[in-house]
Amino acid sequence: MGEFRIEKGDITTYAVDAIVNAANTSLLGGGGVDGAIHRAAGPELREECRTLGGCETGKAKLTKGYRLPARYVMHTPGPVWHGGNNYEDLLLKSCYEYCLKLGESQGFETIAFPSISTGVYGYPVDQAAPIAVKTICEFLRWTQVVKTVTMVCRDDRTMKAYQDALEAYRKERK
Ligand code: APR
Repeated sequence: MGEFRIEKGDITTYAVDAIVNAANTSLLGGGGVDGAIHRAAGPELREECRTLGGCETGKAKLTKGYRLPARYVMHTPGPVWHGGNNYEDLLLKSCYEYCLKLGESQGFETIAFPSISTGVYGYPVDQAAPIAVKTICEFLRWTQVVKTVTMVCRDDRTMKAYQDALEAYRKERK
């Protein structure tokens, strides 16, 4: 049974086995957390990403962390929000699930996520948070490998959305 934490901070400072990058399908960097991670990791990260041939939405690819305190980065393209009728919820769930299973297969004990798709990709955070919380918490009930998953929120509004989602999840399970 692993632990789920919700913290406010900058994911590029997390010294964990892997941080997750809210990437795009090219995996060649961008703005937001993608830009922050590439800036902190240094140019070798983009060099390795170039060899990966992109990544489908909802899946993830693994690279080293280079100059980041994290050992590895799992790059996952989240869904772009188009109103909610284009399977955005299933694709978002897939991002979390795929990264958790990939991390477990690599023997990672500590993983940190940003709030995938709720920035540039426009996914409403109050709709994304319950999906992320449920997916992470259900995985943590069963995994024998992953000890801690942290949702790293950049701002108070995002943090509150995840805290509210966790409270609602715990009430629902009672
Ligand atoms: N640490 C943690 N969270 C961060 C950081 C950081 N250093 N910087 C930004 N964030 C947060 C944002 O505030 C937002 O809550 O990450 C969340 C995701 O926002 P984006 O980075 O815009 O990612 P996303 O909405 O998934 O859009 C992905 O944006 O940067 C491009 O290349 C990327 O095309 C892709 C798209």
